[in-house]
Amino acid sequence: MKKYLLTSLAALAILLSLAVTHELPAPVQTHEMPGDSLTENWDKHIAAIKADIEGREALPADSVFANLSIEVLKHMPAGRLLNVMKFGFSRSLGVTCEHCHNPSDWSADEKVEKSITRDMFRLVGTINGELLPEIEGLKSRKAVVNCTTCHRGQKKPALNLE
Ligand code: HEC
Ligand code: HEC
Repeated sequence: MKKYLLTSLAALAILLSLAVTHELPAPVQTHEMPGDSLTENWDKHIAAIKADIEGREALPADSVFANLSIEVLKHMPAGRLLNVMKFGFSRSLGVTCEHCHNPSDWSADEKVEKSITRDMFRLVGTINGELLPEIEGLKSRKAVVNCTTCHRGQKKPALNLE
């Protein structure tokens, strides 16, 4: 139950970042925005997957996809899972889908980046569910971090300012 709560908080943070993506003008960027080629890569793969799952986009993701282990992702509509892949994961790290997947089998676990992502999801859950709530005096009523907080469009989070 606790684990479920933590992963829920991790997903909430990621979904909040999606909402923000859509509502606010782009903040001042310290790094280049994803180029056309990244956007093309994401949209091409998502269009192909959507064609495959046509008519089932609103069903729970785990009834449509074969190998989901993160509770919140399992229960969200299959179509929304693809938005998490695009905005929550790929855009946050500035990578193509291929960084974590072999597109000939999306369910395969052959890339270490995919398993790292499952662990990163747990890390975000612990920070949001356990560590941030223990900090007194924060301005936000519900302070959260998500993938973008650290990665900011890069695979390797920076350790110093450029
Ligand atoms: C940073 C790593 C990462 C990136 C980038 C990424 N994914 Fe994923 N993807 C994952 C992980 C992790 C899972 C499994 C989640 C789970 O276990 O619940 C997954 C699962 C999936 C699944 C479900 C496969 C199945 O049958 O179980 C699909 C489809 C998918 N991703 C598509 C995409 C697409 C399309 C893109 C690019 C827009 C993308 N992913 C980018 C990490 C990534
Ligand atoms: C608290 C900061 C932090 C957060 C939040 C965070 N990461 Fe990371 N991530 C790191 C650090 C640090 C590394 C290790 C970089 C290195 O190799 O030195 C890393 C590495 C990774 C890598 C491997 C990088 C590579 O070379 O491909 C992936 C994939 C990744 N993170 C995905 C994610 C995803 C997806 C999320 C959101 C669910 C996330 N991370 C959230 C700090 C964070």
